[in-house]
Amino acid sequence: MNIITIDGPSGSGKGTVCHILASKLGWNLLDSGALYRILAFAALQENIALDNESELAELALNLQVAFVSNGVGVDTILNDQNVGDKLRTEVVAEAASKVASIQIVRDALLARQKAFYQAPGLIADGRDMGTEVFPDAPVKVFLDASAEERAQRRFNQLQNKGFNVSIAQILSEIKDRDYRDRNRAVAPLRPATDAIEIDSTSLSIDEVVSQVIDLVKLKLNLAVK
Ligand code: DC
Repeated sequence: MNIITIDGPSGSGKGTVCHILASKLGWNLLDSGALYRILAFAALQENIALDNESELAELALNLQVAFVSNGVGVDTILNDQNVGDKLRTEVVAEAASKVASIQIVRDALLARQKAFYQAPGLIADGRDMGTEVFPDAPVKVFLDASAEERAQRRFNQLQNKGFNVSIAQILSEIKDRDYRDRNRAVAPLRPATDAIEIDSTSLSIDEVVSQVIDLVKLKLNLAVK
């Protein structure tokens, strides 16, 4: 079973590491956070209340969503519309975090997530990939970094995009979100018991990728360049 799960909080470098690994190995990529964001976006569009558990679960089961490679990256298509750039707003992030805390919503997205596992293999990016969605994955990584470092990375990203933001504010939001994610009743963010923990606080993306590749070589006996 060629599955690598990479779980961790936002800002740990997970997303970038997963993209690089998927392209190096030629494997599929599941960005499970994007599924929660798409669901939240669709719920906002359809005026479904974010605490209406049964309607949200129904929406999750029937989402018409596709991830289509465009040569440079991936387009996210919801009901024939490319919604990729609408998913990264604070409003959608906040709504995604609410819908993600509902058990029947997570159950409704489970089969869809498992279906991403196709030959030759899968890189699964999320919070509960190693604990709930792919508990039998042979390679599990939990990628973390200090809250201060993650706040600094987010601050740099936003500044590069021309936003005038306060690092103290970002740090306080990150700490709040961490507390919520790690202490929620449903699928809390935590390393699987058999996950290898990597702290990326003082590592470059390339250093993290190379640590994961070493693990893959060891555990899956694959030759990776
Ligand atoms: O990684 P992200 O910021 O795109 O995730 C969006 C939201 O979805 C975030 O609140 C965490 C949640 N999430 C989750 O609960 N389980 C996952 N496997 C992935 C994301």
